[in-house]
Amino acid sequence: MKNFVPLFIFILILTGCNNPGGRTWMIPVSIDPSDLAYTPSSMESFEERRSQLIDSLGSGYVILRSADQSSSNRHEFRPNNYFYYLTGYEDRGSYAILSKDPHASYTLSTPPQNIRMQIYDGEVLDAEEIMEKYGPDQTVTYREVRALIDSLVKTGASIYIDRSDRTFMRDLQEMAGENGSTQFKHIGELVDELRVIKEPMEVEYMQKACNITAMALTNVMRECKPAMYEFEMEAVIEGTFLEYGSAMPGFNSIVGSGPNSTTLHYEPNKRLMEDGDLLLMDVGAEYGYYTADITRTIPVNGKFTAEQGKIYELVLEAQKAAIEQMIPGHMFTDANDTIKEMINQGLVELGLITDPGSPWQLSFYTIHGTSHFLGMDVHDVGRYRDRELEPGMVITIEPGIYFREKALEQAQEMFKNDADSAVIAEFIEEITPVYEQYVNIGVRIEDDILLTTGGNINLSRYAPKEIEDIEQIMK
Ligand code: GLY
Ligand code: MN
Ligand code: MN
Repeated sequence: MKNFVPLFIFILILTGCNNPGGRTWMIPVSIDPSDLAYTPSSMESFEERRSQLIDSLGSGYVILRSADQSSSNRHEFRPNNYFYYLTGYEDRGSYAILSKDPHASYTLSTPPQNIRMQIYDGEVLDAEEIMEKYGPDQTVTYREVRALIDSLVKTGASIYIDRSDRTFMRDLQEMAGENGSTQFKHIGELVDELRVIKEPMEVEYMQKACNITAMALTNVMRECKPAMYEFEMEAVIEGTFLEYGSAMPGFNSIVGSGPNSTTLHYEPNKRLMEDGDLLLMDVGAEYGYYTADITRTIPVNGKFTAEQGKIYELVLEAQKAAIEQMIPGHMFTDANDTIKEMINQGLVELGLITDPGSPWQLSFYTIHGTSHFLGMDVHDVGRYRDRELEPGMVITIEPGIYFREKALEQAQEMFKNDADSAVIAEFIEEITPVYEQYVNIGVRIEDDILLTTGGNINLSRYAPKEIEDIEQIMK
């Protein structure tokens, strides 16, 4: 059951009903990781997910493992999303097997344990504790589970796995042998649609991830000034994540100033910021394995120039209008259509688009799509095409306009399939004097929108985005 009403009331109480703003920017987030505790009620949610999955499983088996890589010194352990979504279990080196077998529909392996591992990694739960806390029908040891998996992949039944875990897939294919008739299918076929509609517990984590991210962005607004490095801002952002109990970002932080604000997925974050630059930050804290994905663009010196302000307002107004389109029953693409229309119109008025009916001229400035599902993955699972919006979906809205330095010289190559070269040349010639006033301006504004029965809630509403608020905070 996906019952949202109590949750929304809870969120409103928790976050207050007032618009954020004023002299001190209030963000309702506290350092309190108690909400991450695994409780009997979370156990019920995971049970419900497994039972929905098993209902649609037929005679096949699901085999998942907890980690994408069994060991690594470089990265913190994080369980595989499908494994965690179905089990709530977080130990590395574990396997889960699900099937319709009434006596053993859910098998969980216990982690390999020896004294040496305990010395290095600490103690893990034993089989009895795992049974009690996570509710499998049976537990098996690491050795036993490998033998069990080996026998299952040789039965010829359909085996559902996470096909993006390539190493594990190859491993299983080898076990099945070249002549086996086993079909390896993607677990996403059975689970992705469940993941698209967020449950109250998932929304709570996403709200907190957004609030932590809003806090991080606001902290940058307070700290940022010319002659600081982008990585110093990255440190403020990721330091704030850690401070509030987010173990890691949901994706690599994009912190790009000046020309780097026009590079969509800029990640080096190494440049010395200059007076007059914009700073584009596309970042997200992860909380309870759910990520935020928020972009804010600010002036490094605290005050937008006239040109920066014009582009910023255009993106902001389009984004706000698009958010209003995010209501159940509308199509996934409606918000994007609104963005295109408004930005097209604005760029025509600024003399940057010469043919209002030309999609390629618009994409010269806007480049990317403006929405994706958000959840355990930043680009979360689920079918986007030809579908209506439904309560419980969380979707980003992220319009942008970019003035890359090299865009004019690359336009012929980029749009050779869209227009005649003479038409492109004429466009370039006409816009060049105006374009030059905007070079190195990149503006993207991204919010995370939860669809509700009545409309939507902007989960990232505490990240300031009005020019007046940003300039006030940066004073
Ligand atoms: N941060 C990646 C994206 O916005 O899609
Ligand atoms: Mn983003
Ligand atoms: Mn995004």
